[in-house]
Amino acid sequence: MDQDQLKKAVAAAAIEEVKSAILDGEIIGIGTGSTANQFIDLLAPYRNEIKGTVASSEASAQRLRNHGIEVLDLNSTGDIAVYVDGADESNHRLELIKGGGAALTREKIVAAASARFICIADESKLVDQLGAFPLPVEVIPMARSYVARELVKLGGNPVYREGVVTDNGNIILDVYDFMIATPCKTEERINAITGVVTNGLFALRPADLLLLGTPDGVKRLT
Ligand code: 5RP
Repeated sequence: MDQDQLKKAVAAAAIEEVKSAILDGEIIGIGTGSTANQFIDLLAPYRNEIKGTVASSEASAQRLRNHGIEVLDLNSTGDIAVYVDGADESNHRLELIKGGGAALTREKIVAAASARFICIADESKLVDQLGAFPLPVEVIPMARSYVARELVKLGGNPVYREGVVTDNGNIILDVYDFMIATPCKTEERINAITGVVTNGLFALRPADLLLLGTPDGVKRLT
């Protein structure tokens, strides 16, 4: 099985997880990235049953609309029953690194507003310690150099993601060489730097369920 097939398998497993919420008329939170795209495509046949979705990026919102699935403003929905999204890394506590697609801030908002967060990923994403994947940090543009210097003080090697502007009009610094022993502390420490909008650690609000695609089938980690 190649990586795409593994992503499709976890997306299909996630559909099974959210089916009852769809039929109960709940709002579904939708993530961003290639695995989330597979999930969106498999949601299409349920377009008439889904009350509405909240998307974590303009790209996902557009893909949902292309399928005829309603996309709502989080300000009008109240809390969300379940959020489905991919990840760049997960450890065994289901603490994540996200933001490879630059959607981390909206992803974190939708995750925060959701009762349940289902992460979908192929097995290459499961790691013992977070940090081999460079940690994305969304930054207000005028604070770029200041925040980069502060990240160096924390032991990282921040690199400006050239040519990328987030849906919120900000820039991304990717922090390399930053093995993360205490994800909650690191998440809080980076968020406390003035000029940081948020960082791609999802440790304070980790996933509740990880559906992991493996050649032996989809594994459920809680
Ligand atoms: C986007 C994300 C994605 O969930 C993450 O990058 C994983 O993407 P993919 O499913 O394409 O591997 O955090 O900001």
